[in-house]
Amino acid sequence: MPTLIVTTREGEERSVEGEAGLSVMEVIRDNGFDELLALCGGCCSCATCHVHIDPEFAAKLKSMSEDENDLLDSSADRDETSRLSCQIEFTDALDGLRVRIAAED
Ligand code: FES
Repeated sequence: MPTLIVTTREGEERSVEGEAGLSVMEVIRDNGFDELLALCGGCCSCATCHVHIDPEFAAKLKSMSEDENDLLDSSADRDETSRLSCQIEFTDALDGLRVRIAAED
């Protein structure tokens, strides 16, 4: 299974394994990171699954939808590395992906 490296808001880094085909949000949540609220359950309507993605992986990600872009605009912590983790499918190609959980809005 591909590995995801998650950094919490406190700066703690942990490597976890995630099943390909799940979303990055599901991999984070299923591994017990309860600070990622993911309140809407992954239907792109809450922005509480906001993460910052290692720029090295940016080219491997599908581009964001207009809805994701609009939702991210509501976050004060948005920058060029911001994504909604429920909108990223975790795949073998993303093995070693680093994400940092964004500040709470
Ligand atoms: S979980 Fe709500 S937008 Fe991702």
